[in-house]
Amino acid sequence: MDKLVVTGGRPLVGRVRISGAKNAALPLMAACLLCSGKSRLSNLPDLKDVRTMGALLTTLGARLNRRGGRLHLDTSAAAGEEAPYELVKTMRASVLVLGPLVARRGQARVSLPGGCAIGERPIDQHLKGLEALGCRIVLEEGYVVAEAKRLKGAEISLDLVTVTGTENLIMAACLAKGATVIRNAAREPEVVDLCNALNAAGARISGAGTATVVVEGVEELAPLDHRIMPDRIEAGTYMVAAGITRGELTIAEAPLEHLTAVVGKLKEAGLRFQQTPKGVVVSARRAPRPVSLITGPYPGFPTDLQAQLMALMTLNTGSAVMQETIFENRFMHVPELRRLGAEVDVTGSTAVVKGVRRLKGAQVMATDLRASACLVLAGLAAEGETHISRVYHLDRGYEAIDQKLTAAGAQVRRESEPAPGKK
Ligand code: EPU
Repeated sequence: MDKLVVTGGRPLVGRVRISGAKNAALPLMAACLLCSGKSRLSNLPDLKDVRTMGALLTTLGARLNRRGGRLHLDTSAAAGEEAPYELVKTMRASVLVLGPLVARRGQARVSLPGGCAIGERPIDQHLKGLEALGCRIVLEEGYVVAEAKRLKGAEISLDLVTVTGTENLIMAACLAKGATVIRNAAREPEVVDLCNALNAAGARISGAGTATVVVEGVEELAPLDHRIMPDRIEAGTYMVAAGITRGELTIAEAPLEHLTAVVGKLKEAGLRFQQTPKGVVVSARRAPRPVSLITGPYPGFPTDLQAQLMALMTLNTGSAVMQETIFENRFMHVPELRRLGAEVDVTGSTAVVKGVRRLKGAQVMATDLRASACLVLAGLAAEGETHISRVYHLDRGYEAIDQKLTAAGAQVRRESEPAPGKK
């Protein structure tokens, strides 16, 4: 297992290019199962989760050929229908193959994901929607077994906003007979990216990016040919890196149009933004002002940037209140931040962050992807060395983060760590 050692206290200065979005890449890869023939995805990030989705598609019979950021994905001989527990347990987004498999092949056997570090995360809305589309679903030995001759368009009202749930149902509805209306749909830009790619392949989806998505089913789809949108969460993370180190980063390909809530909060904290032909220049000169926030579905403040904002707020000049409304257990970075000297009190879903003058390096443990990013950010600002173990979480969602940070002047090194119990 690798760990990262970050020596803090240096302002980051330089340029960072944002990679393709993980949470757009994963549904797009799954969507290739809806099409026959060779799909092409470009700007594919090199991430553990992308490799896991690749492995899953391979077990389903797809042939993958990756060159740099380009992926050719041939599903003409893909006949498998089972997403095994071993893969689903390492990545919940594996459930995204459920909709495409049942729509295209009429059956699917997908392991139930189970709970995960950030919360319980059920998939009842995915299943409820598929049932409305005419799918028979039984739960058998920890697997969702779904069957349908041909799905039929339906009216679906989701009880809550779910990103992968909306994506699964849109994909399934693409090949259903007749029209499907999905109400209370997720409006995340990644949902829109998926719909744009599907529409270019012959799907008839309207309303993507609004709370009501209408899908007119078609008989078949051509292969996808799509460039994956840039990662707004990665971009937000580097914005915080510039702010927390009081540096100046030029962030190329940052999708600012999808970061309105985030940039608003960072400006409130005192970060400066300047658009240039080379990218957005983000800088800070002094300690951040306190900024309070509540996470919410898009266009609200993303839960996937809450931990990173908290890292910034540990050094604020007053007191900041952060409320998490999406996941029930997404403050696991708090005890680790305290090890660095942060003052954070958590009551239920609310954290109060009282700013301190400085953080001091310590040994900390990454518990999930975004918590890991938070600890790296805090480490960049802390005095001395911060040792972050279990960085495999970070590798799931941040392409080449150590290289990108090092290129901007950070002192970050990767070391292998003996497994627990071994010396
Ligand atoms: N929920 C249900 N029932 C369902 C589906 C969701 O109760 O059937 C609940 C969840 O438990 C959660 C809330 O609804 O409390 C929202 O969950 P959602 O389904 O929107 O999350 P997701 O689709 O599983 C995606 C991202 C997450 C991101 C969330 C929220 C992907 C692959 N994952 O997850 O990304 O946090 O939306 O924006 O798109 C990450 O990248 O670190 C990450 C966790």
